Amino acid sequence: MSNQYDYNRRFDELTKGIDTTFKNILEPFIYGNISDYLKKSGTNIDILDVGCGCGYLTASIAKKFTEARVEGIDISESAIVCAKFHFDLKFTQQDVADYPESKKIDIVVYNMVLHNLRELEQTIWKTSIILKRKGIVLITIPHPVFWLSDKISRGKITLEEPFNYNSEKFYNIPFQIKNGLQHQTELTYYHRRLETYINTFSKYLKLVSFEEVDFNNGYPTMLRIVLEN
Ligand SMILES: C[S@@+](CC[C@H](N)C(=O)[O-])C[C@H]1O[C@@H](n2cnc3c(N)ncnc32)[C@H](O)[C@@H]1O
Repeated sequence: MSNQYDYNRRFDELTKGIDTTFKNILEPFIYGNISDYLKKSGTNIDILDVGCGCGYLTASIAKKFTEARVEGIDISESAIVCAKFHFDLKFTQQDVADYPESKKIDIVVYNMVLHNLRELEQTIWKTSIILKRKGIVLITIPHPVFWLSDKISRGKITLEEPFNYNSEKFYNIPFQIKNGLQHQTELTYYHRRLETYINTFSKYLKLVSFEEVDFNNGYPTMLRIVLEN
């Protein structure tokens, strides 16, 4: 997501419950897995929300799981300004690559972040370093096979050149949420092949679950993934 992304507008969208995918698909996945982890590991845990944006998810996790220590980081200054303005929690402007290796985390959350992030391999390696043994990573991303082609075929996105699935590159595309507010800015979408994601995850961490989410399109447009150290 480019730095001029409107985090305040995103905050409004989330607090008003307009983003139904966030509410019905992403939040239950994150909450369910945190709950399961807490049942197994006890209460004294650390959760890191990487690419926390306006901080809405970080704060909801903190509110729901009061027994956990929760912090958010984001590479974007305006994200952290927005998060700090709305929530009294620990938010730091930081690239995940610079997160201190000495800190050990139980649960790392990447909610709709990995497709927005430049360095996938370095990020997953770094995650494995900061994760406790048996710690987990919760990932949601647009489905790399179907999401962009679906938007193109429905005329929601027009690319300057034809989309080539095999070519891993970034696109600046309009940021749109179904029924959401009008966003003036663009999202930097790093397209990667599905095998790039799977191979990178399994190089450093154990794949626990891999779920393709279908919104009754006849093909899935979202992935929900759990990794373990
Ligand atoms: C699409 S937004 C998702 C925000 C939030 N997780 C949510 O669910 O609303 C992705 C965020 O990841 C952040 N980001 C991208 N690369 C990052 C990195 N290397 N380290 C930390 N944050 C990063 C962007 O600045 C952006 O705020």
